[in-house]
Amino acid sequence: MKVGFLGFGEVASTLSGWLKDAGVEVYTSLEGRSDKTRARAKNYGVKVCKDNKSLAKISDILISAVTPAEAVKIAKDVGKYTRGIYVDVNNISPQTAKEALDCIENGKTADAAIIGGIKKGGIKVLILVSGSHAEQFSRLNQYGLNIKVIAPEVGKAKTLKMLRSSYTKGVSALLLETLYLANEMGLDDEFLRCLEATECPGFRESTLSRIKNSAYHAQRKSQEMEEVLKFIEDYSKLELTDEDECLSMIKATGEFFKYISNKIELDERPNYKELFESFKSKN
Ligand SMILES: NC(=O)c1ccc[n+]([C@@H]2O[C@H](COP(=O)([O-])OP(=O)(O)OC[C@H]3O[C@@H](n4cnc5c(N)ncnc54)[C@H](OP(=O)(O)O)[C@@H]3O)[C@@H](O)[C@H]2O)c1
Repeated sequence: MKVGFLGFGEVASTLSGWLKDAGVEVYTSLEGRSDKTRARAKNYGVKVCKDNKSLAKISDILISAVTPAEAVKIAKDVGKYTRGIYVDVNNISPQTAKEALDCIENGKTADAAIIGGIKKGGIKVLILVSGSHAEQFSRLNQYGLNIKVIAPEVGKAKTLKMLRSSYTKGVSALLLETLYLANEMGLDDEFLRCLEATECPGFRESTLSRIKNSAYHAQRKSQEMEEVLKFIEDYSKLELTDEDECLSMIKATGEFFKYISNKIELDERPNYKELFESFKSKN
């Protein structure tokens, strides 16, 4: 079994590590990629094809794990060379996924959604999948993955992912902003203790982890929120007018992540105090 990854970031490298350990041959291409991605591919010891076209030709399963903004472009680039099954795992709307998958000329496609952070979830992280070749993709379960087929129609997995993203990213943005204020007021520890008293056990750890990840992946999250907004606008039956405030939370979350990503660029996940200091130094 040959699995190819378009993009070699957090998702591709984590999945690669698991699949390689289970005996799968894993490939990527570094055509046009940054030093960071090159170094990661070297660390993980995956096989490197000379370009995306060759990668598409040799892969039994070709997984697109780029960034939301690049999902359609990369599908166009490899559309006529893809021999096996093409699976999109990017956090994009069902409409964007359909646009990307329509570029794959052999029609063997599936849209997938990783539910939760890939690193945090470990090998049993839930991966939902839909589309005509969802069942074939789920054969990777024999190598230890936890892929669940939810429907043969394309777009169902992305739909669930968009709904989930709307909720989780909204909560993360609100936590980040509120903890920033609490920190400014010298009440951060007390604030976290208050929250933990009324939320669930472990809430402090999950809050701090959300904040780190939100800041570290702010640019990708801002792109993901653009997709959520596109999804909600297309599916909304509410006939919104300018005065309606129904979408304000989702819009605000998108704008929040755009603001954070313009403000800071991080090579490492910082703790929240370092993060807030770096905000202030950029003011
Ligand atoms: N991380 C998660 O836990 C998670 C969970 C669910 C869904 N997702 C989705 O999965 C996708 C990948 O996420 P990630 O966390 O792995 O992102 P990431 O760490 O930011 O990595 C993105 C990778 O894609 C590469 N890339 C960008 N544009 C490309 C192009 N046109 N052609 C080929 N490669 C390209 C980047 O290379 P350069 O370094 O050269 O830019 C990098 O290697 C995203 O769409 C995200 O929404 C992620």
